[in-house]
Amino acid sequence: MATAELAGKHLVLGMTGGIACYKIAELTRLLTKAGATVQVVMTEAATQFITPVTMQALSGRPVYTSQWDGRVPNNMAHIDLSREADAIVIAPASTDFLAKLAHGMADDLLSTLCVARDCPLLVVPAMNRQMWQNPATQRNVAQLRADGVTLLGPDSGPQACGEIGDGRMLEAKATYEAISSFFSPKILSGRRVLLTAGPTFEPLDPVRGITNRSSGKMGFALARAAQQAGAEVHLVAGPVSLETPWGVFRQDVQTAQQMHDAVMRSVADADIFIGVAAVADWRVAHASEHKIKKTAERALPSFTFVENPDILASVAKLPHPPFAVGFAAESGDLEVHGEEKRMRKNVPLLIGNLGPLTFGLDDNEVILFEAGSATKLTRADKQTLARALIAEIAKRLPDTSLIR
Ligand SMILES: Cc1cc2nc3c(=O)[nH]c(=O)nc-3n(C[C@H](O)[C@H](O)[C@H](O)COP(=O)(O)O)c2cc1C
Repeated sequence: MATAELAGKHLVLGMTGGIACYKIAELTRLLTKAGATVQVVMTEAATQFITPVTMQALSGRPVYTSQWDGRVPNNMAHIDLSREADAIVIAPASTDFLAKLAHGMADDLLSTLCVARDCPLLVVPAMNRQMWQNPATQRNVAQLRADGVTLLGPDSGPQACGEIGDGRMLEAKATYEAISSFFSPKILSGRRVLLTAGPTFEPLDPVRGITNRSSGKMGFALARAAQQAGAEVHLVAGPVSLETPWGVFRQDVQTAQQMHDAVMRSVADADIFIGVAAVADWRVAHASEHKIKKTAERALPSFTFVENPDILASVAKLPHPPFAVGFAAESGDLEVHGEEKRMRKNVPLLIGNLGPLTFGLDDNEVILFEAGSATKLTRADKQTLARALIAEIAKRLPDTSLIR
């Protein structure tokens, strides 16, 4: 599905010689699906790892590998290929290619294109940890940053060579998100956003507990959209199985109390708080230390519940609260409950999920409740909706000079 950031963008995707070339097949698919046109250019070494045929089939365009290629009418592929480009993305970027870029070398088509470019250059390093840590590589990276080149990654973790450390390429999805982020308008630049997402889990005993059907998708989509809008994002997540959006700091918690404590520890630094998590209202007063056994007499267990802290209300009650946004998931009468909940929580903006509960779905439709008005946003997938909501929140922020 085309996205606002990438639809109509033209990218030159430069591939250099590394094992991570296999990730570029998926990256190309994600970029073209988002509406970008992708012109693949490969170094000779890159063609040893994946064939130009594969890349041509996935990008839908002929692949260039040589500056002596006669297919460009004036024989100037090294200039013409980048002229229409919104950016050149080098992925994977080898140690060798970083060195070439840092020194302005131009001894093959891709390096010549980079030197002759008049568009931004994004570089996605991929290499063994020793190659990454090598002082020469670090000098080259520092030089590239000083030259205004954008580095995406690298990641840390197990490497193709069997070693573990810094240098591996971001996964295709994260690279795609980082490229989208590069093109997003930075409407939250300089802002710090604290969010909660997902359900909480309230234990009954070591193996059982009470939770709810929140998938975390809306909160994660908002965290991604806020990051792409230029904010520094801290996401406090309940138990969900979702990937952390690229560039977002994630803290995992289980219970409502843990979520409350994590939020209260960080909220002083936040300009915006968005409480998307479906936080349990109650917990069992004394969870059993041992698994509760089914007794021979079949006596049913009984539990005493106590109230959990109200995270949104606690944030709104602070002497200098951030711009606080709540979410409401009601199974009926949202129009009445939404505004009532906004006033009770004392927040400037409350977002109500319209229609039946949307837990786990990819689409959502919401109403924005604020003093004196209720505005409906059109139904959309959660990521599109998240971008629209971030734009709505950005519009309502107090003047930068007044914000903490
Ligand atoms: C099996 C194999 C895997 C390699 N993987 C990487 C890698 O992940 N990162 C890297 O920087 N170089 C890697 N290299 C070395 C590069 O391919 C080599 O430095 C090459 O000259 C890079 O050329 P290029 O920058 O023109 O694409 C690998 C080499 C081999 C043989």
